[in-house]
Amino acid sequence: MMQTKYFKFDQIKEAVDLLKGGDIVALPTETVYGLAADAKNEDAIKKIFLAKGRPSDHPLIVHIDSLDMLNECAQEVSLQAKKLAEHFWPGPLTMVFKKRESVSNLITAGLDTVAVRMPQHPVMLEVIKMLGRPLVAPSANAHKKTSPTKPEHVLKTLDGKIAGIVDGGICSIGIESTIIDMTKETPVILRPGSITAKALEQVLKVKVQVPFDHNQKISGNMKIHYQPEKPLFLLSLEQIENLLHTESNVAIMHYSDLDKQESCVYYKMSSKRQDYAKDLYATLHAIDATTVEKIFVETPPLLNEWSDVKDRLLKASKK
Ligand code: TXA
Ligand code: MG
Repeated sequence: MMQTKYFKFDQIKEAVDLLKGGDIVALPTETVYGLAADAKNEDAIKKIFLAKGRPSDHPLIVHIDSLDMLNECAQEVSLQAKKLAEHFWPGPLTMVFKKRESVSNLITAGLDTVAVRMPQHPVMLEVIKMLGRPLVAPSANAHKKTSPTKPEHVLKTLDGKIAGIVDGGICSIGIESTIIDMTKETPVILRPGSITAKALEQVLKVKVQVPFDHNQKISGNMKIHYQPEKPLFLLSLEQIENLLHTESNVAIMHYSDLDKQESCVYYKMSSKRQDYAKDLYATLHAIDATTVEKIFVETPPLLNEWSDVKDRLLKASKK
């Protein structure tokens, strides 16, 4: 165990110094908090896997602040990828490219591809700029646990296991980046996020593939992931209302209006995707801190726009 140093958002230099010394530091991004290490320091990268308890066959995303850094990681950047970069970076989009020799196999889990994203959060961007090197950063939570959108969520599973954390407040998007594989003829979405297939298609002017059966190498695509401590059930409003005739001491996450019962705790979510997504992980963390025995979640709307929210809830509900 070590003392995890807490930094305010303007104490960026202190965080950069730790990263320069080969330590790992949790940093805010616009999606979720990331657990960052210098992408050129293999000993530092190893610390990430150790702190998270992450199996070594789950590759990491490289975070950059410029297209120069992209060219140092990717063998070739297609015209289509350039269009996406121009349109969505900095922002919650990760693109997969053929990797250059110089990218560590620890980052890519031995794959010949590398996932790259230019984040939008000013703290993360400034740290990369001051370090002058890319950062690898998985979500800053223990493997399989609910992702962090506030500093206290990070500390819940990583306090004493990481050198520091920079407090950047609440993450504005709240769900991990969309991942798109740009190495194929047809781009393939590997993980849904706030940037939808439709938004990508509008820029690319071609169809993107949204496979049903996701690749198991994508850790976010393993069946069990994002799990709160309490068992979570995805149900229709009707099912919830029926179950509540016999169940008590349940947390209910809903966006529709429903009849409330005294023995349950209600978490009213927004019916707007953007606000729902921003609150999703924070609500799961908040429920975990209560004494309820289980979580009933009203199934989100069946619209494409909600596919990232649905994806995370579905995985959180797997036993
Ligand atoms: O929004 C995000 O992407 C956040 C913030 C911190 O940037 N990061 C994040 O990292 O979600 P992580 O490690 O929790 O998820 C990264 C995902 C993993 O599911 C991994 O399998 C996938 O990216 N990935 C990494 N490299 C890949 C590659 N070469 N090919 C396919 N998938 C890859
Ligand atoms: Mg993660």
